Order: sequence, then C-alpha cells, then structure tokens
Amino acid sequence: MTHPMHPLAPLPSIKLKIGTIILAAVGVTIVVFWAGTKVGLWPSVSGIIAGICALVITRYLARGLTSPLREMSEATTAMARGDYERRVNLASKDEIGQLAASFNQMAAELDATERMRRDLIANVSHELRTPITALQAVLENMIDGVEPADPETMRTMLAQVERLGRLVAQLLDLSRLESGSMPLDRQSFEIEAVLEHAARETRLHSPNAIVSVDVEPGGLTADADPERLHQVVANLLENALRYTPIGGTVELRAFPAEPSGITIEVTDEGPGIPDDQVPRIFERFYRADSARSSRDGGAGLGLAIAQWIVDLHGGEIHPERREPHGCRMVVTLPGARTATAVREPVHPGGT
Ligand SMILES: Nc1ncnc2c1ncn2[C@@H]1O[C@H](COP(=O)(O)OP(=O)(O)OP(=O)(O)O)[C@@H](O)[C@H]1O
Ligand SMILES: [Mg+2]
Repeated sequence: MTHPMHPLAPLPSIKLKIGTIILAAVGVTIVVFWAGTKVGLWPSVSGIIAGICALVITRYLARGLTSPLREMSEATTAMARGDYERRVNLASKDEIGQLAASFNQMAAELDATERMRRDLIANVSHELRTPITALQAVLENMIDGVEPADPETMRTMLAQVERLGRLVAQLLDLSRLESGSMPLDRQSFEIEAVLEHAARETRLHSPNAIVSVDVEPGGLTADADPERLHQVVANLLENALRYTPIGGTVELRAFPAEPSGITIEVTDEGPGIPDDQVPRIFERFYRADSARSSRDGGAGLGLAIAQWIVDLHGGEIHPERREPHGCRMVVTLPGARTATAVREPVHPGGT
C-alpha cells in the first residue's frame, strides 16, 4: 500500500485540520453559489451544485485523516493473531500521527518481548534436556546391564539431578524477581557477617579454595535484604572460584562507596572477562565460554539473578579488569555505612 502525501499532512493538530476543512468547504460553497447566481442559475440549482462541490472538497481533504486509525485497527487485529511485525504509516503530524508513533513503538517492544520469550523457552528446554538425556542414558545402560549400579555411577547421576534442581531453583528465582513477587526485606546489618558466611560456605564446598574477607572499616553496615545480598555474593564467589587456578586467591572486600553507600568487590585471579563479552554477561543464559560452562553445569543465570537483585536495591554491578590478570566484580549499594561515617567529623576546638 502506498501513501501519497496528503495536503493536510503537515498540519500539527486535528483541530487545525478540521478548521481548514470547514473553511475550505464554506469557501467553496460561497464561491460556487455566487458564481452560479452570477451566470443566471436559479438559487436552488446553484445551492445544490455548491453543496456537491463542498462535499467533494471535504471528502478530498478529510481523506487520510482517519486512515492511520484504520491501519492501527488492522495492525491490532494482526497483533492479536501473533504477528508483531506490523507497523503503521507515520506521514501525519497530528495527534493521530503521534498515536501511530507510540503504537509503532509499542509494537516494536512487544516484538522484542515475544522474541525474548521464544528464546527463553528454547534455552530453558535445552538446559533441561541436557541433564535429562544424560540421566536417561545412564539409567538405560544400567537396565541393559552395560553399566553397573555402583556408587560411582550413582554419584554421576546425583550430579545431574543436582544440576536439574539448581537450574529449576534459578529459574524460579528469576521469575519471582522479574514479576516482583519476591519483595525485599530491607534492614541494616553488618556486611562482614554476610561476607564471612558466604566465604565459609565456599570453603566448605571447595576445601582447596583460598577466600579472604576484608571489611574496612570494621562495623560497615549495609541497608539491604541480607538473604538476597548473600545470594549475590555467593553467585559472584562461585564464578570467581570457577576461574581461579588452584592455589589462587579470591578476595572479598567491602568498603564505603563515594559519595554514599557501600561497595562490595569480588576479585579473582582467573583469565578475566574479554572486553567484547562484558556487555553480554548479565544476559540470561549467556556464557562467555559455552563449552566450559556447560561442562561445569552453569546455565548462565547467576549474573542475571545477581543483577536483578542489585537493581531492586537501587544499586549497580559491573566487572572490572584486575591487573595483571583476573576479574573484579564491583557491586555498589546505596544506603547505610557506619555509625561513625554518618556522623559529622568533630573538629577539636570547633563550636
Ligand atoms: N569471574 C569471572 N571470570 C571470567 N569470566 C566470568 C567471571 N564471571 C562470569 N564470567 C563469564 O560470564 C558468564 C556468565 O556468568 P553467570 O554467572 O551468569 O553464568 P554461569 O556461571 O556460566 O552459570 P550459572 O551462574 O548459572 O551457574 C560466564 O559463563 C563466564 O563466561
Ligand atoms: Mg555463575
């Protein structure tokens, strides 16, 4: 469908367009009526001709006034059927034109959301299928007597089941975070306790890991949901450990942020994150090194969850490069610091 430029299209409002149409119609009526009587036509005949001319000019000018509405109505019907690629013509500059522009923007956003939904389902199915296929293969082998039902085999099966359980728990967390049905239970607490707890858990899981905790100044206080914050730190620690070579150290640090809030850093001695991957690592299911991650069982959800939690707190999370090599994940949260930091410094001899 082509859209020839309409004479009224550049007018910026519907009022102006309707005013112009009325003016044109009245003008044409007067002129034609006057000309008719001038050439000696009966006033009634002259009137009828003037009326017809007015109708024709009104029809010509009003054409296109409502066509974007018709287009939008058609596009809405198409969208209801699942076709999100339809856009409407934006020639008109009036309120309907603005509405059409908003409509196109909405359609583009819906299109993107729909694509994300499809990708999500594809990713989820793929991630679920992998451990299920592995489990099925082992079970079939056992039934056929090819593989013995010994503790070793059971352990590999347990690992796959754990991987499935973890994935489902992560998906549930993400969906709760995104839907807002996991409200934050914000409170003031000493950050050191949360960091120590996360570090202890990590040492328990990987006894060889060297995890150091450093909070400066002591008694640094966060205003956050401790359970969710623990989840963030645990996710970052897990990533850091995955990349740190044996004997390497993972550092957990917390200190007051400038000008307000607190900063938590998780630093590892791994290879770091390549610059071109940085913008994507917070995406759901994104793995910078897919071969490695799928082998180790990571689905690429950890950082997406961490970012959601930090966002809910009104904070910020980003990776930095550690010299000479390694990755430093920096989380900044607004709010509480320490009792002393909040108090004005006391100047000796001052008022
Ligand atoms: N400390 C790090 N050093 C190097 N690369 C990292 C680091 N942390 C994250 N990445 C990269 O970012 C990607 C996304 O991390 P994310 O935590 O979201 O997923 P994952 O760890 O692969 O899986 P999951 O956390 O769901 O188990 C990782 O796959 C990895 O490529
Ligand atoms: Mg992770």
